[in-house]
Amino acid sequence: MATITDKNTAVVTGASRGIGRAVALRLGATHHVVAVARSRPQLETLASEIRSGGGSCDAVEIDVTDAKAVARTLAGVRADVLVNNAGVGYMKPLLELSSDEWHTMVDVNFNALFHVTRAVLPGMVERGRGHIVMVGSIAGRSAFAGGSCYAATKHAVMGFSESLMLEVRDQGVKVSVVNPGSVATTFSRRDRDTSWMITADDVADAVIHAIDTPPRVLVHRIEVRAAIPKKG
Ligand SMILES: NC(=O)c1ccc[n+]([C@@H]2O[C@H](COP(=O)([O-])OP(=O)(O)OC[C@H]3O[C@@H](n4cnc5c(N)ncnc54)[C@H](OP(=O)(O)O)[C@@H]3O)[C@@H](O)[C@H]2O)c1
Repeated sequence: MATITDKNTAVVTGASRGIGRAVALRLGATHHVVAVARSRPQLETLASEIRSGGGSCDAVEIDVTDAKAVARTLAGVRADVLVNNAGVGYMKPLLELSSDEWHTMVDVNFNALFHVTRAVLPGMVERGRGHIVMVGSIAGRSAFAGGSCYAATKHAVMGFSESLMLEVRDQGVKVSVVNPGSVATTFSRRDRDTSWMITADDVADAVIHAIDTPPRVLVHRIEVRAAIPKKG
């Protein structure tokens, strides 16, 4: 998988669609992109789009909850940027949530942060530079009915991100968390009217803003919401 490149490398999880795809496309202008998700055809389409714009991209088909596959696949990647974006949401009352749905959200939204971050962080610390961006949610600092598990995983993302930031910032590694409100992606299929929502590109702008700061500046937390939310 490892492409030889003199560009900086950015690993983006959940790059097959939605926010991760938008982030990968933006990073493709400046970085070699390692695009991670389970859907190979969508990853290949993304990689072709980045290549046709003059960039380079490796499409990496892995399930981020598979600790061994993540460790094996990312072992040789010299990541300068990691965007931990992969996520799932089953929004329903606790009594309707299955055990599988609960565990999938905890595994993808939270446990996978450990597997992926653990795979690339040692190299960043060794080189004394790097940037890890988590895509959280405004559900990471508020609650909503139907969000008992989802909001809990996103609260965990906040605790993880701030703690990690305090651990590694003086080793040259920045940690940021971008918390979107409602974004018009397939994630929001429960809400058919997406016209009032922000777009995946809007969230990608926020991610790029956090990454494109001078070495002395650390933007740790960004919240990006619809200016005019749906009424009612
Ligand atoms: N959309 C919103 O309203 C909203 C709001 C706030 C926060 N967020 C957060 O933003 C992030 C991206 O959401 P989105 O709206 O872009 O959702 P999306 O369009 O459904 O995309 C989710 C991405 O995560 C990947 N993914 C899911 N499970 C995976 C797994 N086990 N292994 C590897 N990749 C996996 C999917 O790829 P494959 O299916 O190909 O594996 C896909 O690329 C999530 O963390 C979500 O919680 C979204």
